[in-house]
Amino acid sequence: MNPLRERYGQEIDDILAKYPQEQKRSAVMPLLYVAQREHGYVTREHLDQIGEVLSIAPTEVASIVGFYTLYHDTPGGKYRLQVCNDLPCALRGADQFLEGVCEHLNVRPGETTEDGVVTVEAVMCLAACDKAPMFQVQSREGISYHENQTVQSTVALVDGWRKEEM
Ligand code: FES
Repeated sequence: MNPLRERYGQEIDDILAKYPQEQKRSAVMPLLYVAQREHGYVTREHLDQIGEVLSIAPTEVASIVGFYTLYHDTPGGKYRLQVCNDLPCALRGADQFLEGVCEHLNVRPGETTEDGVVTVEAVMCLAACDKAPMFQVQSREGISYHENQTVQSTVALVDGWRKEEM
């Protein structure tokens, strides 16, 4: 049996029940959400398993993961700090901000700190263009927005997370 279906049978059935049989491929987003919950990212096996449930190619599932900033195809830290450095934010100093944060945390964009607490990522527009530098944080607690940030305020936030981990 499909391992994902085996583990989350009822939940997956409930999701699929919301879509007409001929539109079941539209359930790809909630199924990715279920899969990602397991390890904080979508594994290669998940792509195959979701593809099998929805009768679509794993590459189609992978293209959704690649498109949305809320899905990840690699392991990350407990917190994902996603800095928008799209053009409007770049005009308000987002690139320098990102560079400063990375320098303080000793990572490059896309990398996770040595203690595994935070992954810093550069992402496209998060719809707060006039409040850059800004980022969103993804964690098990959900998503939060942080606008008009400085490198110092961001490092202080990360220090707070680190204290919680101790
Ligand atoms: S360009 Fe950064 S939030 Fe829109």
